Amino acid sequence: MFDIDKLRESAIKDRVPIMQESGILYCKEFIKEKKIKSILEIGTAVGYWSICMASIDNGIQITTIEYDEDRYKQAINNVKLSNKEAQINCIHLDAKDYVPNQMFDLIFLDGPKAQHKNYFNQFISYLNPNGYIIVDNMSFHGHVENRENLSHRRGLQKMVNKIAKFQDWIINHPDYVTMEQDIADGVLVIWRKYPEVIRYDMITKGE
Ligand SMILES: C[S@@+](CC[C@H](N)C(=O)[O-])C[C@H]1O[C@@H](n2cnc3c(N)ncnc32)[C@H](O)[C@@H]1O
Repeated sequence: MFDIDKLRESAIKDRVPIMQESGILYCKEFIKEKKIKSILEIGTAVGYWSICMASIDNGIQITTIEYDEDRYKQAINNVKLSNKEAQINCIHLDAKDYVPNQMFDLIFLDGPKAQHKNYFNQFISYLNPNGYIIVDNMSFHGHVENRENLSHRRGLQKMVNKIAKFQDWIINHPDYVTMEQDIADGVLVIWRKYPEVIRYDMITKGE
């Protein structure tokens, strides 16, 4: 019998980075409230969050991308054990090479933390006009707020600077609204300020 709590425990024991519980609770409520039905997740890991999301409602469909082969195989196995194969499509690929063939209500960016801006730009045209993008780890264990103290850890500082740059860019972007949640490791929710413009574009292009 599949047990999601056991999967969580084993992921933590194996040091697989998965969403923190407060982030999970917040995002589950968000998905319910906004009646999200189609989700793209960048960064599957072992499938923990995908299975959580699929368990919210049988009508939710998830496409999730993971480039690490071992984690992808574990995710496939966990999805099978959880009996969620009809809802979760795991893809073994570097997210930068993924070209969706559908639109999504929610895009969840939880892959490489230095790539948020690239992935945002790569996938925004696959977000439904009234859809949402959620980005996890915006605080990156508190390092984003305290990044000037990281001069002795150049690699980490570079990555944290990129998160901060993305945050600054998106918060000040004229086309998007952002809502920062001071929960888990920092959750940022993004949506379009002018969804009607996108809807009009789609209608006139016959999409
Ligand atoms: C934070 S974990 C994802 C956790 C998962 N969303 C959860 O909460 O259960 C990030 C994952 O992104 C994967 N990843 C990193 N770079 C990637 C890339 N370029 N394309 C696809 N996946 C990538 C890592 O291998 C890792 O498993």
